Amino acid sequence: MSIVGARPNFMKLASIARAIEDYNASNKNATIDHLIVHTGQHYDDRMSLLFFEELELPKPKINLNVGSASHAIQTAEIMKRFEPVLLKHQPDVVLLVGDVNSTIACALVASKIQYNSQQHGSTAQRQHSKGLRPLIAHVEAGLRSFDRNMPEEINRILTDALSDLLFITEEDALVNLEREGIPRGKIYFVGNVMIDTLLINLKKAEHLKPLVMQNNSYPNVKNGYGLVTLHRPSNVDQPETLNALMDCLKVISPRLPVIFPLHPRTKLNLERFGIYQTLTESNGIVLTEPLGYLEFLRLLKSATLVLTDSGGIQEETTFLKIPCITLRENTERPVTISIGTNYLVGTTPEKILETAFTILDGRGKKGEIPPLWDGKAAQRIIEILVNKIVTSDW
Ligand code: UD1
Repeated sequence: MSIVGARPNFMKLASIARAIEDYNASNKNATIDHLIVHTGQHYDDRMSLLFFEELELPKPKINLNVGSASHAIQTAEIMKRFEPVLLKHQPDVVLLVGDVNSTIACALVASKIQYNSQQHGSTAQRQHSKGLRPLIAHVEAGLRSFDRNMPEEINRILTDALSDLLFITEEDALVNLEREGIPRGKIYFVGNVMIDTLLINLKKAEHLKPLVMQNNSYPNVKNGYGLVTLHRPSNVDQPETLNALMDCLKVISPRLPVIFPLHPRTKLNLERFGIYQTLTESNGIVLTEPLGYLEFLRLLKSATLVLTDSGGIQEETTFLKIPCITLRENTERPVTISIGTNYLVGTTPEKILETAFTILDGRGKKGEIPPLWDGKAAQRIIEILVNKIVTSDW
């Protein structure tokens, strides 16, 4: 049973779902029964449904429809609604991706559930006392920003503490997990499932012509453009911070037009703080709705420069070797800086602008692709999971 809830989960599960299909096609006598549960943390079509369609991700059979709420209420509501689902289906494995509230909520439920052993049909589970609950597998484990003001950092630490199998994307994660006392034997360096999905979809994306590239009413992006995403509460919830970041875009845009797809939270705050109108009046700034996976990937691939506070985009730009300016004080993905094309600059305008213009002057770093980001992470994960279940080795 795989859990998804929020936008960044969908691209991570897409390659895993495909690896399961491939496994089933070549192991017809012992197939994996894969059930996807959507918590409903994200629910707008452009934040959810669109991704299932584009990524050919099987539609979830179960949707918990939790919607938006405070952290406590959202997490609690997911837990309440997930417990009966888990008891009904009693999967061998609960597979969790990333660091959103859906991830930790379902980890908590799965770690304390008590299956009825009579009812449960799996041989592996009947043979093993721990089979009274599912094996918990966390994909993208061990990432740490060391900033406990980030809700995601809390979600990461707790989910990892509750997981039986921890699949990591970069070697720093191993050091982080061992420091927290997690046994080495539970940790597997498998690569990056989000990069698997990127590789599967890159050709398809390259054939697209996004609206901003076709429409004459937009600024001319033929000679390059910047791509911007922002949604972290620390960047978009305070008027002063959001205003300062928007002022940076206004300084960059006369030299390099910028395309800025708006997360619902960001759009709401831009309107609330009276900034939205000034952006629409700036010639070189194009505001759009949240984009689909393929359209965004198409824009990412040809961008001159990316400015973001997202975690996943730091990795995607490193893989594509596109310069990325991360508008945060810390990152849980240090390999994107040590090996990749990422710059961690914080939110000070001087630093942001200095880095942007260094890149535009052609003095940016080149970057390499981190180890095992080779399109095979999901396949490795499925092989390990099957082996664990078949041998009851956990
Ligand atoms: C969540 C994740 C974050 C991830 C981000 C990607 C947590 C703690 N945070 O943050 O790690 O990077 O998703 O987007 O899990 N909203 C809509 N439509 C939707 C979903 C949300 O309008 O489909 C609006 C609502 O006003 C909501 C707000 O966005 O209150 C925030 O949504 P929420 O899921 O709480 O957190 P994100 O900021 O999206």
